[in-house]
Amino acid sequence: MDIESLCIIGGTGFVGRSIAEQACARGLRVRVVTRSAPRARPLLVLPTLETVVADPNDEESLGRCLENMDAAVNLAGILHERRGATFESVHAELPRKIARACGVAGVRRVLHMSALGAAADGPSAYLRSKAKGEAALREAGAALSFTIFRPSVIFGEHDRFLNLFARLVRIFPVIPLGGARARFKPIWVEDVARCFVAALGDARTSGQTYELCGARACTLEETVRLVAAIAGRKPRIVALPDSLAALQAFVFEHLPGKLLTRDNLRSMSVDNVCRGPFPAVFGFEPSPMESVAAEYLAGAGVRARYQQFRNYAGR
Ligand SMILES: NC(=O)c1ccc[n+]([C@@H]2O[C@H](COP(=O)([O-])OP(=O)(O)OC[C@H]3O[C@@H](n4cnc5c(N)ncnc54)[C@H](OP(=O)(O)O)[C@@H]3O)[C@@H](O)[C@H]2O)c1
Repeated sequence: MDIESLCIIGGTGFVGRSIAEQACARGLRVRVVTRSAPRARPLLVLPTLETVVADPNDEESLGRCLENMDAAVNLAGILHERRGATFESVHAELPRKIARACGVAGVRRVLHMSALGAAADGPSAYLRSKAKGEAALREAGAALSFTIFRPSVIFGEHDRFLNLFARLVRIFPVIPLGGARARFKPIWVEDVARCFVAALGDARTSGQTYELCGARACTLEETVRLVAAIAGRKPRIVALPDSLAALQAFVFEHLPGKLLTRDNLRSMSVDNVCRGPFPAVFGFEPSPMESVAAEYLAGAGVRARYQQFRNYAGR
């Protein structure tokens, strides 16, 4: 497969930024579709990247964004439902629209971001909707050459996972933790991006679904302890029983920012750990979280303060 250009839907986010950077570093032409020009601003430094402000949920606009592209990458996703953006609309209907629009625009190669644990009978609406998105691509059949990725939780410099806990352990001496025993195998965002970019032109990955996990499994509680150790703090972590965890999630989902919802908690009720080894087709082993996280979390406190100044200054 000869891929020289790709259109990324959901490319302004945490994962999209890494994929765009790695694709541009390989000299690929990247078009990022966004509903919001300011969100795409940090990407504009990339030399072979253009942004298009359009709503990908509108099939006509989406079709125009896909014109003259060799591949489409769908990263659009949400963790919490909002008015106008439900799991069904973002994770199930949008992939269906992308599959159809690719067919019309003649874009055969499609990489699709799902999530580890996606299943029609999954415990959460999030995981069930991710399964529907995967089904939408498979139903497109031979018309598309698709590859589906199912990562465990993803960490990296701009994540909302380890950075959130780093902020919490710096502020609070006691952390009441719902889902403390939930197991993950976190993967570095640069490793995820490496798989996407490698898969683009690799015919062996066509029609395949890959689970992507990091080097080591850990519980949420162990993860928070690791973050605390990196931050040089020793908070007391209180693992909440299920009933209190549900109450905590209920409260959080009604607060601005929705730190955690009951649906997130239901996703965490099953292990988020890959069944097999890291896919050999990508030719590398995933990076350990301990060393990567230590590098970016150590300076996170200082950077967060600078970011506050930047936000204040509108930059
Ligand atoms: N982060 C993780 O730990 C993790 C783990 C497993 C799977 N995933 C999956 O990986 C993908 C990327 O995650 P991320 O962490 O990079 O997310 P993110 O930072 O929140 O970015 C989400 C992207 O989705 C787009 N989007 C959001 N709502 C949309 C809507 N209603 N219609 C169209 N586009 C919409 C946004 O585009 P705009 O520019 O238009 O706002 C944004 O670029 C998601 O599908 C997520 O489910 C993430």
